[in-house]
Amino acid sequence: MSTSDSGENAPRFPGGAFETVLPGESFGVPAGVPDPGVLARMANEFFTALPEFSQAGQSAPAVPQLNAAVPGAAAALPASGNPAALTSLPTTGIPTEAELRALPASLAPAAAPSLVAGLWPAALPEIPGGLGAMNLSALPSFSFLHEIRPLFSYPMASPLAAAPPMPAVKIPGETELRALANNFSSLATPQILDSGSYLGAPQVSAATPQIGALDKLVSFAFLDEVRQLAPAGTLPAAEPLRVSSALLPGLNISSGPFDVQSIRRDFPILQERVHGKPLIWLDNAATTQKPQSVIDRLSHFYTRENSNIHRAAHELAARATDAYEAARDKVRRFLNASTVREIIFVRGTTEAINLVAQSWGRQNIQKDDEIVITWLEHHANIVPWQMLCAEKGARLRVAPVDNSGQVLLDEYQKLLGPRTRLVAFAQVSNALGTVTPVQEMIEMAHRYGAKVLLDGAQAVSHMRTDVQLYDCDFYVFSGHKMFGPTGIGVVYGKLDILENTQPWHGGGNMIQDVTFEKTTYQPPPGRFEAGTGNIADAVGLGAAIDYIERIGMHNIARYEHDLLVYATEALQRVPGLRLIGTAREKAGVLSFVLDGFRTEDVGAALNRQGIAVRAGHHCAQPILRRFGVESTVRPSLALYNTCEEIDALVNALWNLKQGHGSL
Ligand code: ALA
Repeated sequence: MSTSDSGENAPRFPGGAFETVLPGESFGVPAGVPDPGVLARMANEFFTALPEFSQAGQSAPAVPQLNAAVPGAAAALPASGNPAALTSLPTTGIPTEAELRALPASLAPAAAPSLVAGLWPAALPEIPGGLGAMNLSALPSFSFLHEIRPLFSYPMASPLAAAPPMPAVKIPGETELRALANNFSSLATPQILDSGSYLGAPQVSAATPQIGALDKLVSFAFLDEVRQLAPAGTLPAAEPLRVSSALLPGLNISSGPFDVQSIRRDFPILQERVHGKPLIWLDNAATTQKPQSVIDRLSHFYTRENSNIHRAAHELAARATDAYEAARDKVRRFLNASTVREIIFVRGTTEAINLVAQSWGRQNIQKDDEIVITWLEHHANIVPWQMLCAEKGARLRVAPVDNSGQVLLDEYQKLLGPRTRLVAFAQVSNALGTVTPVQEMIEMAHRYGAKVLLDGAQAVSHMRTDVQLYDCDFYVFSGHKMFGPTGIGVVYGKLDILENTQPWHGGGNMIQDVTFEKTTYQPPPGRFEAGTGNIADAVGLGAAIDYIERIGMHNIARYEHDLLVYATEALQRVPGLRLIGTAREKAGVLSFVLDGFRTEDVGAALNRQGIAVRAGHHCAQPILRRFGVESTVRPSLALYNTCEEIDALVNALWNLKQGHGSL
């Protein structure tokens, strides 16, 4: 698999563990996208037909310059391009209406009539909603050639046996289509440009519009359609659209040992219907669904093993204790901790962080000490430190992120110093999906003698965890975000730190001996588990770990990576959709806002289609405000999601924009 800078926004996992899937490789090109040679020839003929070019005897700026960063792409295109001409395109010399009307007739036959007449599905919509709401101030500058230039970036994987050999072409994005529409329409209908408003924005679905748009480009038939543009209120409503992953044939999403349909059968709730539609669960960052094996394990515990954990008392106590401690060992193995003594069961990540703040933190943070977090943090990794700082007179410092949502390491570095006692940050941002450079950040913190708490809540279901490799001092996560039950989570702490840390809660189970004068505590982890813990759900968490390990985290990560790339591409094609969080390293989260719609309304509209997403601030207000929003819509992925579910999401959003999805 080749790599290229052209995959700038393609999410991927860190550390090069998985090859980046380039957009072209992932998605190929839908059936019916024209041969770039045809486009080039047409562009040549188009510009040759323009008076300025023909009079000046210039060669036409036919073939857009290739993106040299894409290996193989340059060789794939004809060498007849004249990149220099692209920068000296005429900005005047608008052809007359009569000349433009003559163009379709003269150019269409040259432009692969077989494609136009036969291979492109007639049923596919043109540019839905019409070429409305264009940038009316855009005079014809021919700048669309610059927009076309990046089109020739991706290798083409045409499923059309009858099609001529395909060189490279990229699916045009919304921006590109808008530019095309603006330039051609303003060329064609200057009188309309003065006449007022048009309905709607140019609507682009995930897969079909580029076909429609290029169809118009090749045949120039759209010039006639542009004439039909009507003032606001008179355009007919476009039909609802369907997109299909079948139109993205290059994505090898279900290859290898990972069988998503088989996995889906493991999760009974995925058979639910919501509002008459099959449930599409895309709220995995909030909580994941549970496989039958976890449900069965809980049932088995309550049916055959239920007891408090005091092994010696009786048979069921022994069974319950064995099950609970076996789960602890599964967590140890899952995290690659060196001993079960480093694994503390808690209710979840929030309690885990509070435990560290209130035990280790209260013992070790003093006045004027500094705690460093990042802008990405969940409230659970902000508020406990604020409380501690307020109590101790310490200072909370926050490392900023760049515009993609990745931590600015230079700025982070500047915050570290001799006063830094603790760095606490998320491995994966729950609001943006950013995967932070864990090892680098931990190593930097350790240089100053600071301890590091890594919040793994959003990471554990997506990628392999190795606390020894990370060398973090604490690692925290929740069971319910990794297919386990709610109400169970984990603190991992390095043994020497835990041994030297006083407990937080006092009570039963955590003591060695109690007198009215003095209490001695259990060694870790018992000293941090006061009272009767969530025994059954710890056992259920163990079953969830078994489930993940049976599938293989490597397989899960690879599949989700492809799915994330697919979803990112598809969502980016929804008009007016802005992804919040576009870091190169991402996992599982696709936060967005949709122009013209409140996030809660988008969430409600999706819910009516059976699609569950979270809409809101995701308990991460600072990072959303960093991006100028108070809330986002947040689809989030897990191993059981499919391309078809992403298609349904995109269709629903698309139809919402079109006015077919009720609010
Ligand atoms: N922390 C969970 C989320 O991000 C609840 O939705």
